[in-house]
Amino acid sequence: MFAKKKKDDSVVVKDQEPFFAAKLTGVKREYVLKGETVYALRGVDLEVPVGDYVAIMGASGSGKSTMLNLLGCLDRPTSGKIWLGHDDVTTLDDDSLSEIRASRIGFVFQSYNLIQQLTVIENIEVPLYYQGNTTLRSRKRCVELATMVGLEERLNHRPTQLSGGQQQRVAIARSLVNDPYFILADEPTGNLDSKTTAEILDLLDKLSEQGRTIILVTHEDDVGARSKRIVRLRDGLIESDTRLRPI
Ligand SMILES: Nc1ncnc2c1ncn2[C@@H]1O[C@H](COP(=O)(O)OP(=O)(O)O)[C@@H](O)[C@H]1O
Ligand SMILES: [Mg+2]
Repeated sequence: MFAKKKKDDSVVVKDQEPFFAAKLTGVKREYVLKGETVYALRGVDLEVPVGDYVAIMGASGSGKSTMLNLLGCLDRPTSGKIWLGHDDVTTLDDDSLSEIRASRIGFVFQSYNLIQQLTVIENIEVPLYYQGNTTLRSRKRCVELATMVGLEERLNHRPTQLSGGQQQRVAIARSLVNDPYFILADEPTGNLDSKTTAEILDLLDKLSEQGRTIILVTHEDDVGARSKRIVRLRDGLIESDTRLRPI
């Protein structure tokens, strides 16, 4: 089972830390559309060790979003196995999958997806709030995360009072609040200018250096080149898997 948060905000320590943040074996995803079967993923094997920083790339229609949805437990494979940490998520029921989504995956989206009525610190706290896990200690952790992403002076600002880059920093801090298996980022710099893109990529580098596992989808070569490993999809299969830097 995945680590359950106890009421006192501590985490049940597992015997052994997992070696892989994510592992896919023989993963296929087929969609049936108007009687026709679309083979979006046709048998994907992928191991993402803890601490890796993977860019998933490939042409439009190659299966990137399908893979992202599967890694994010937003969808299930037609066949094959997916492990996140120690958990074979293909055996879990919908409630357990939503719990994993809420508590063990750090989503970062192109459009930030912040709650406009909430402040920076409250937005970072949202994933804990959904688990009834907001304590003085967790508030302190949110302030630490805000500080780590450089927003310690903006704790009580609302998203409309922030630049795009600052909003994405809030989203990245929020993604870390639950100590996720990995950050799952979907075109995280897609809405940002080149200077702000560079700042966000610097932040991802810093998180990677701290040992965080990052999986991101991008179609920009410059963004992919900053990762440690590029996995290129083509027609629902892994076409190439290139290590750029050691983990
Ligand atoms: N819900 C769906 N129903 C039918 N076909 C789909 C669905 N989602 C994706 N596809 C098809 O699966 C293939 C892979 O799509 P996708 O994963 O979105 O690729 P990418 O994100 O790389 O552009 C495409 O041919 C696409 O049309
Ligand atoms: Mg897509």
